[in-house]
Amino acid sequence: TPAPGPGAETIRLTVDGREVEVAAGSSVMRAATLAGIDIPKLCATDSLEAFGSCRVCLVEIEGRRGTPASCTTPVEPGMVVRTVTPRVERLRRNVIELYLSDHPAECDGACELHDMSASMGVSESRYAGGAEHQDAACDSSNPYFRFDPAACIVCYRCVRACEETQGTFALTVDGRGFDSQVMASQGEGFMDSECVSCGACVDACPTTALEDTSVIRQGQPDAFQVTTCAYCGVGCGFRAE
Ligand code: FES
Repeated sequence: TPAPGPGAETIRLTVDGREVEVAAGSSVMRAATLAGIDIPKLCATDSLEAFGSCRVCLVEIEGRRGTPASCTTPVEPGMVVRTVTPRVERLRRNVIELYLSDHPAECDGACELHDMSASMGVSESRYAGGAEHQDAACDSSNPYFRFDPAACIVCYRCVRACEETQGTFALTVDGRGFDSQVMASQGEGFMDSECVSCGACVDACPTTALEDTSVIRQGQPDAFQVTTCAYCGVGCGFRAE
């Protein structure tokens, strides 16, 4: 959502003491971003529709009970939002511990969950996890990327990227709780699904669950160059060497 343009209906609110004016219909998270405040998030991205599943972006709003997800809560005139309070921080750390309980301690690559837990000082989880997931087999059927269920936090970013960016319904989530897992919608490997290998799911993944095979073989590049063509709107990433 861009900052409101001239003539747009706007709403003024306060986030962590900073007054901000945003377009009507914006989320509290968007208002915070425009106020220069980063609210931790795992399931939200700048390009996907808000989903509200990870519960990391909780905030407190004056006059309201509970701690709503800022990514799915629309702004209202005069709202007073607090993104950092003892209650919010306690709940957020608890959520991160729950994620860590079902995620490999060592992620050999870019992992937003580990970056976030490190920034919060959460190094281990008090909860027993779904250890059986750590042995789940990787899906390497696609030559361009690999899916490792052990590293997946089921944030739905890949499923939503497939649907919203590419208009393809190649992915779904099956099961509940520790048994939930991302899978090809036909229940086969990625290569046998409707996947068109556009890479939108890999770009959207916050952990190392979906990884480009060139990154697995050669490590993270110093820089990426993205090109777009008329064939699709995703954009192809190339290593800049
Ligand atoms: Fe808001 Fe995940 S970022 S619930």
